[in-house]
Amino acid sequence: MRAALSVLSLALLANAGVTIYTQVTFGTGAATATGSAFPSVTNAAAFDPTMLIPPPPPNPAVGGANVVQLLTGAMANMSAPVQSGFLGFSIELSVADQVLGKNGSFINPQLLNLLETISQRAGRCVVRIGGNTQENAVFFPQGLPNQETINKDKSNLTGPTNTPTLQVGIDLIYAMANISSLTNTHWFIGAPFDTPATPRLGIAEASERILGDRLLGLQVGNEPDLFESHQARPAPYNVPQYVAEFQEFVNFFKTDSNIQTQKSLIVPNTCCIWGVSELNEIGFFDTFNDIIKMIAIEQYPSDYCINAETGQRNHDPQTEFATFMTHTNAVTFVSYYLPVSALAAQHGKPLMMMETNTASCGGLPGLSDSFGAALYLIDVAMQMAWVNFTGALLHVGGQSTYYNPFTPPPGSVLKRGGQWTIGGPYYAALIVAELIGSSGNAQVVDINPNYGNEYTPGYAVYENGRPVRAVLINFITDPSGANDYTAQIAIDGSGVGRPNQSPAQIYVRYFLTPQNSTAAKLPFYYGNQTFGNVLESNGIFQGSLDTKAIPCDQSLNLCSVKIPAPGAAIVFFTKEAADKSLSNGDPTTIFQTTVSSVDLHNTATIDPKILATSNGYGGRHQELGSTSSGSSNAANRLTQALPGFMVLVTIMAGGFVVGRSLPR
Ligand SMILES: *[C@@H]1O[C@H](CO)[C@@H](O)[C@H](O)[C@H]1NC(C)=O
Ligand SMILES: *[C@@H]1O[C@H](CO)[C@@H](O)[C@H](O)[C@H]1NC(C)=O
Ligand SMILES: *[C@@H]1O[C@H](CO)[C@@H](O)[C@H](O)[C@H]1NC(C)=O
Ligand SMILES: *[C@@H]1O[C@H](CO)[C@@H](O)[C@H](O)[C@H]1NC(C)=O
Ligand SMILES: *[C@@H]1O[C@H](CO)[C@@H](O)[C@H](O)[C@H]1NC(C)=O
Ligand SMILES: *[C@@H]1O[C@H](CO)[C@@H](O)[C@H](O)[C@H]1NC(C)=O
Ligand SMILES: *[C@@H]1O[C@H](CO)[C@@H](O)[C@H](O)[C@H]1NC(C)=O
Repeated sequence: MRAALSVLSLALLANAGVTIYTQVTFGTGAATATGSAFPSVTNAAAFDPTMLIPPPPPNPAVGGANVVQLLTGAMANMSAPVQSGFLGFSIELSVADQVLGKNGSFINPQLLNLLETISQRAGRCVVRIGGNTQENAVFFPQGLPNQETINKDKSNLTGPTNTPTLQVGIDLIYAMANISSLTNTHWFIGAPFDTPATPRLGIAEASERILGDRLLGLQVGNEPDLFESHQARPAPYNVPQYVAEFQEFVNFFKTDSNIQTQKSLIVPNTCCIWGVSELNEIGFFDTFNDIIKMIAIEQYPSDYCINAETGQRNHDPQTEFATFMTHTNAVTFVSYYLPVSALAAQHGKPLMMMETNTASCGGLPGLSDSFGAALYLIDVAMQMAWVNFTGALLHVGGQSTYYNPFTPPPGSVLKRGGQWTIGGPYYAALIVAELIGSSGNAQVVDINPNYGNEYTPGYAVYENGRPVRAVLINFITDPSGANDYTAQIAIDGSGVGRPNQSPAQIYVRYFLTPQNSTAAKLPFYYGNQTFGNVLESNGIFQGSLDTKAIPCDQSLNLCSVKIPAPGAAIVFFTKEAADKSLSNGDPTTIFQTTVSSVDLHNTATIDPKILATSNGYGGRHQELGSTSSGSSNAANRLTQALPGFMVLVTIMAGGFVVGRSLPR
């Protein structure tokens, strides 16, 4: 399995801006691969073809045309400015090697492409490595054999679920640093909290030293409110026990001379039983103000856990589906955290949703991997942005979970040329990256369009007092077209006694599925581009971008956008906003892959298809021209040689290994 992985992995040249890459085969073999071509993997949750029945359309239909009134200046109840990289990813520590790469020098190019695609739109990508498995992980500062990132010590099982102890090598942190330097990814990492009086701080020290300003913070304690029920601590384990342990941890942490920045801790990362409000009541955030960087929580709106008493799953996916396909679900979930948002603001701390997705305990079969789930995640992410969350991270759990934004293929499938599976949650992250953008200045407002109909939510995004982008969602499945609706957007105008401000035209990208059903599985399309079906993606967005220019009726001051049932329309109010949403101005980097172990040879040729189909950047980058920055000379040479100003970063399958600067 390790040998096969090398085929899909890249060696990165330490100082290179340039680049060689291997034979490209996507778009041919890869594009024709389907789930059925890899029958053995359909047992894994991540590739389960189960389809639900979409909730029936409402009667009477929500269709028709309704005015959405936007105002210049501001809307009531806008969010605080939202940081770039709002919707990121949370990668369970135990699968970090599958996702990032088995050793520090060979990083999965598919991941690099996926992170770069977000970074181009959002300015950066935010990723957390952690989860329950962070608690008793053992860090190896001298490295593991063969520069492994992670080794599962199956001889040492812990906890009621017999989780193998994770051995984490320093190469995991090197891999993260290498990813950061290539894709502007910023990280959260978990530090173990299983022995609070004498914590193992090696991973914290190495992360701070190696990741530098790309380290956003150290997550201490993962869901401590569940320590008692998970038998990670003797009962009782409530707020007082937690606070006492955290004090011990802090005492030790403050004396660690290998830690430079003390205000880096992220707490309490609670989910379910007690949390921020209870801790606030006893002054926790004042007591530890000097060491707490951010407040974080973790929660999913539903679960697929087995009930200990009945032995049954807590929720039926088909029943849950109808609940998920309404705005009410996102609003209800997020409204629970309004007091937490207010507390965080009061203490001047950012608030992170450190881990979320559709449903915990692996996700709901047929729901978590549906088109509808992606619509829900757009809605809930924008809802969190509206109420001043600083960021939210969608969890990636490996082959056994349904909700993954992206899933590497199982080893056996990898050998047969299988690529990655890019799920609906990734599309949600990509779309939210375009909506929030890279300015750090975006303000979000829930506009409750269509008379606040719960099947058709929408948000506007403001920058500098002007609406720049909007998203309009339709949760209904109705092939008859009766539930398609048209939002007639007005900016100022006679309806509010102001001069007309609607533009001459707007620009729209649609998020759709060819099956026109919220129950649909992959492939999905956004702006006519896709990552294909299961096991088909090299992480590059494929197809030619379709941004529709829609003329407005300037005499009526109305811009009409039809939202099909189901689907989402992402609206850009200016050409500049539509263009900027795709790129922060830096050169686009594409990380090539090869899909066949026998087909390996390095070549410096460039597949014209890639340049032609990579987001259609050509024209715009030429406009931006010399604003591209940060490339090495060699990269500049290559950039100039390429139509479309692509920079291809460094790829060699086998052969080149990054130089190691530290002894081990
Ligand atoms: C790192 O992984 C690659 C791919 O599996 C492998 O070819 C290489 O030998 C590994 N490096 C070390 C030092 O083992
Ligand atoms: C703004 O928020 C307040 C309090 O939640 C609410 O009562 C009011 O209706 C909101 N206004 C708008 C325009 O949404
Ligand atoms: C098992 O893992 C724990 C940490 O979870 C560690 O303290 C212990 O030394 C390990 N035992 C062995 C035999 O490696
Ligand atoms: C979010 O922050 C803005 C600006 O500080 C504030 O006006 C608004 O009330 C906050 N929203 C919530 C839900 O706390
Ligand atoms: C989905 O809708 C589109 C646009 O209306 C239509 O062209 C297509 O045939 C529909 N697909 C199915 C499977 O009904
Ligand atoms: C969508 O993409 C396909 C494949 O790249 C292309 O053939 C087609 O013309 C595109 N459609 C539009 C409307 O851009
Ligand atoms: C990349 O990883 C290697 C170790 O595998 C490390 O020596 C090197 O410093 C890393 N590069 C960056 C930019 O962090």
